[in-house]
Amino acid sequence: MHLPDLDIAKKREKSENVYIDLKEDYHKVFQNKKYYIRTYGCQMNVHDSEAIKSYLEALGFVNTENIEEANLVVLNTCAIRENARDKVVGFLGKCKYLKKNRDDFKIVIAGCMSEQPDVIEDIMKNHKYVDLVIGTHNIHELPKLLMQEYQKQTIEVYSNSDEVIEGMNYKRDSKYTAWVNIMYGCDKFCTYCIVPYTRGRERSRKLESIVEEVKTLKENGYKEVTLLGQNVNAYGKDIGETFSHLLECVAKTNIERIRFVTSHPWNFTDEMIDIIAKYDNIMPYIHLPLQSGSNNILKRMNRRYTKEEYIALFNKMKEKIPNVAITTDIIVGFPNETKEDFEETLDVVRTCKFDGAYTFIFSKREGTPAARMEDKISLEEKEERLKELNTLVNKYSNESNQKLLNKVVEVLILGVSDKDKTKVYGYTDTMKLVNVTSDEDIIGKIVKVRITSAKSFSLDGEYVKEEVSA
Ligand code: 5AD
Ligand code: SF4
Repeated sequence: MHLPDLDIAKKREKSENVYIDLKEDYHKVFQNKKYYIRTYGCQMNVHDSEAIKSYLEALGFVNTENIEEANLVVLNTCAIRENARDKVVGFLGKCKYLKKNRDDFKIVIAGCMSEQPDVIEDIMKNHKYVDLVIGTHNIHELPKLLMQEYQKQTIEVYSNSDEVIEGMNYKRDSKYTAWVNIMYGCDKFCTYCIVPYTRGRERSRKLESIVEEVKTLKENGYKEVTLLGQNVNAYGKDIGETFSHLLECVAKTNIERIRFVTSHPWNFTDEMIDIIAKYDNIMPYIHLPLQSGSNNILKRMNRRYTKEEYIALFNKMKEKIPNVAITTDIIVGFPNETKEDFEETLDVVRTCKFDGAYTFIFSKREGTPAARMEDKISLEEKEERLKELNTLVNKYSNESNQKLLNKVVEVLILGVSDKDKTKVYGYTDTMKLVNVTSDEDIIGKIVKVRITSAKSFSLDGEYVKEEVSA
């Protein structure tokens, strides 16, 4: 039997004992069992699911898209807002029903929800049919834990180790674009945010292993990597490295496209801007969460910058990085956000004219400082504000897309469009989604595309037969 992932994993020092007892027995237990995985939340979770799939398939599990025939269901959960949690709880109900008459049906809860004490308590009390709860720090232990799990009956909870795991294997969803974790966790403690509690303190991976991973991806035909972290530009503080140095080393691998998410304005240095401007293979696209345009709210959010500082940084990026696109995240209805505070947010949006923005209503997360703040603003008022903000945000993203009309842009084509199977889709260097008509197979290539129509959230275009790269 083919065991590449386990063999490689066994060589890693820290996880050595994880696999020792598995070697002889695991395929007797797992071979040809089917797993179903559902992923909620951010890119970090999507990438964690790629690791989970890799481990499961190395154990002998086979993927299925049909939950009814699965022996193992993995829910990789998100905790960032209440509605993310509600979705998971809703889906758990379906799993409970499926498990009713089946001895051979296991349920694993992974991801950020598994790191929240109140969730764990709720599972132990109200969802006893769940078999295993595994935190964001423990994915590499999944094989050992599953093995134990298949041999006993109680719920086990594993979370909170602060190891940095190198050399993880991933069953990547795409053959052309890859996520690369560069750091884990977050130290910023924005007062509304659960992430520092669910993903722990900032831990950076070794620069050499990251660069090696990118080189291997390039050798295997990948065109694009996205460096991932909650605060990518805080990379290296714990190991005497810097994000600009890492970016430069990754750029020198000559992989065609490099992206990175998410950046914190407080950690963005001039040196980073210079490196982005210097290398053509670092994409001119920056996601720079604003969260609020009111200095009063920013302070209460513990964001560590003022609106003036944010705008100055934004302008510097626009000035120094040719053709850069900047998107953002904004929260409305933070506790006791006044009408004036909200107006200031709208003002910053009018000043920056973002290429796009993800907007959210504040969601109370148990255990965060903001959950204890007084809040007199009604949900109705918050919904009104969100609507007004979205109208403004869409106006600017539409305007920014209209500018591309009739222009020829470079697009990395990733696959067949979901909505229209006669088209393919991909992203411009500035991360704009384009649906493309082409009479040739251009999937996996970076090609030139003429933009024929522009909407707020996507562009349409046609392939221009002059290839940018093979
Ligand atoms: N409520 C609403 N939005 C939140 N975000 C993070 N925590 C919360 C919360 N409690 C948003 C922020 C962040 C994005 C990933 O999610 O805007 O940048
Ligand atoms: Fe959450 Fe703030 Fe860290 Fe982003 S920087 S993950 S919003 S605590």
